[in-house]
Amino acid sequence: MKRQLVLGLAAVAMAMGLSGCKRDDAPAADATGTTAAKPADTTPSTATTTISASAAATPVIPRPAKVELRDGRFAFGPQSRIAVAGTDAEATRIAQDFAARVQTARGFAPQVGGAAEGAGVVFAIDANIAPEGDEAYVVDITPQGTKVSARKPAGLFYGAVTLWQLLADGAQGEASIAAQRIEDAPRFGWRGLMLDVARHFRTPDEVKTLLDQMALHKLNTFHWHLTDDQGWRVEIKQYPKLTQVGGCRIPAGAAGRDAKGKPKPYCGFYTQDEIRDIVKYAADRYITVVPEFDLPGHAQAAIASYPEFGVPGTAPPVSPDWGINTWLFNVDDNTFKFLENVLDEMMPLFPGRYFHLGGDEAAKDQWEQSATVQAKRKELRLKDDMQLQSWFMGRLGKYIEAHGKRMIGWDEILEGGPPADAAVMSWRGTDGAIEAARAGHDVVLSPSPDLYLNHVQSDAADETPGRLDVKSLKDVYGFKVVPVQLNAEQARHVLGAQGNLWTEHHRTMERVERAMFPRGAALAEVTWSPESRLDWDDFLQRMAFQMERYRLTGFDASDSAFAVRFTPQPIADGKGSLALTSQSGFGTIRYTLDGTEPAATSPVYTHPLELPLPTTVKANAFADDRVLAAARTFELDVRSLRARTSNALRSCKKDLMLRMEDDAPSDGKDGDRRLLLADVFDPCWIYDAAQLDGIATVEVRVGQLPHNYALWKEASKVVTRPAKIPGGALEVRLDGCEGEPIAVLPLAPARKSDGLTTLTAPMPTQAGRHDLCFTFASGEYNPMWVVDEVALLPAAR
Ligand code: ACM
Repeated sequence: MKRQLVLGLAAVAMAMGLSGCKRDDAPAADATGTTAAKPADTTPSTATTTISASAAATPVIPRPAKVELRDGRFAFGPQSRIAVAGTDAEATRIAQDFAARVQTARGFAPQVGGAAEGAGVVFAIDANIAPEGDEAYVVDITPQGTKVSARKPAGLFYGAVTLWQLLADGAQGEASIAAQRIEDAPRFGWRGLMLDVARHFRTPDEVKTLLDQMALHKLNTFHWHLTDDQGWRVEIKQYPKLTQVGGCRIPAGAAGRDAKGKPKPYCGFYTQDEIRDIVKYAADRYITVVPEFDLPGHAQAAIASYPEFGVPGTAPPVSPDWGINTWLFNVDDNTFKFLENVLDEMMPLFPGRYFHLGGDEAAKDQWEQSATVQAKRKELRLKDDMQLQSWFMGRLGKYIEAHGKRMIGWDEILEGGPPADAAVMSWRGTDGAIEAARAGHDVVLSPSPDLYLNHVQSDAADETPGRLDVKSLKDVYGFKVVPVQLNAEQARHVLGAQGNLWTEHHRTMERVERAMFPRGAALAEVTWSPESRLDWDDFLQRMAFQMERYRLTGFDASDSAFAVRFTPQPIADGKGSLALTSQSGFGTIRYTLDGTEPAATSPVYTHPLELPLPTTVKANAFADDRVLAAARTFELDVRSLRARTSNALRSCKKDLMLRMEDDAPSDGKDGDRRLLLADVFDPCWIYDAAQLDGIATVEVRVGQLPHNYALWKEASKVVTRPAKIPGGALEVRLDGCEGEPIAVLPLAPARKSDGLTTLTAPMPTQAGRHDLCFTFASGEYNPMWVVDEVALLPAAR
């Protein structure tokens, strides 16, 4: 009840306009927060943005290899017919799939069938088209008709996707498409996304939603991270406890208990039938599913289910902790029998060639401490535990190879010598890719942090949770798939690249969708389009259409690159100034001051607005008359001029910066959760250059989070500050984080709530601008106390 009361008050405060910026279509508490400090990653946009004729004629993502514009336009409407040349059953399925997608995009479904002659659109398998490869295609558009041709069905499907993009521009009814000839083929064969369903489970339908969006970007590889310390997600009939036990965990903190304190398991797994269905759904969209069974570490959920295959022989819980858990499989023959039996059930579910065996972050503590493991190592005449891991991976690599699969593993498999035919997925930067390619191994680039989609994509107040630093749309677009260190011969080993989404902080599908796209669109372009065709400014113009396509397909892509950001500044006489920017700087910013939705005819923002207090500002970005984002609202008032949320404060250190959610409420209503930014090694914040003249009160909204991080050898770096009063306090210091605090806010009231609590203390008189430091002297690191918002308030309001 307490928590509900606190959240209730927070919601009322928001409704009263006390909390600044908010995304209009997002749950209020999720999206509020001021950005009084200048956002670090924004660009002013002052010129009016128009879309170029070539981007408007071919707004296709990824950008096709070759486009030849022609005179005239092709009209495609409800009367148009689609025909398939020849009798290829897949071509017919592709044509029907295209017609269904036309219905979504334009509101009519063209008829499919009949002779090629006289049809508006013809799909044809044609072994003689110029661009080579199974995924190549030609789309030939004339005022009289359109022909999509490809050597193979995969190419035909991509031709259909291109044609669909040309007509999915947000308008309904008959489409008018610029006449042109597109010849296209991908640069790389591995264009992938990885989804971790161990940390947070996604239903089969949610996985299909993602696959569908991948297909519409010509992404062709879905790496499915199915097993980890926090969950085992695939039915294995010989070992039912893997899902009965390993498929559930008790989450850390309040999320793991109901209102009465009873454990609330978090569970999920896929039956083998569900997996077969998803794999077929992917194959119908020319996507190969690469499953991952992570070994010999990230194995705690499996060992929780069958402790005899772990090292100590005792059962750990399925881990509620993120980070590096140290449970490893043991190296007994019985364990290999178990692993092989599991692989025997998994391999037939996934017809693709590659099978991912993990190999990452296997902390060797348990192996080091086990006499049995060490005796085995000596018997094998291996010099260290890295070689033992290499032997372990090699043994299973050979096993799957004997079953027609090819092993791929994280770049740790390079340590101790990888199995000869193994492909390497480079995640610890690109060094692994360089080393592996030089040694003749095929490689996939998915380096952290560049392609780690669990990193946030902006520093906006309404950004989704995740890890910092920011990896923006532009950052992903700038990724160079082939490391410059490789010569042409070595570069041939680069299969492609993929974006990885680890889901510790991505609890919902909405979060997954935003993390994956549109950064997945940038990834699609850098993996598909020729390097000579990559052009950020042109990409942004085509994104104006792509954002429309996300809306058409009901996909909740992030608009962080385009959304308007607000930077308020106090000015005298009850007025404030408000600067409007966006991360990419793309688009014309338009605004209203009367609470109405900004439209393509609203006033254009050109310079900071000087406004009386209070004023409600609503703004959005447009390219021509295309809306680029959801409108954002800012309540400019006394408080928003003086308040900063945690994302607008500076972290004292930046060891492991995470944007997290406050702990889940035990009443199950979690829509109101706040996003809190902290360094989990040392939660400590600076309010830079705070104007303190006339400030009488400091008001701080604080929350608590479970500190559920397995930090392995770095655990000792976690800072705990001793409590000086019972229950501890939030301490505020002037010009640095040492010395005596100038304000002390006891935590006792906040301890009574698992939600957010506003603490208040008087501020001694100060003049001018000073940095303020905020730290919790609580005597504990778990729960982790976190600042949500600081407001510095004048005496009379
Ligand atoms: C990884 O991020 N542990 C592959």
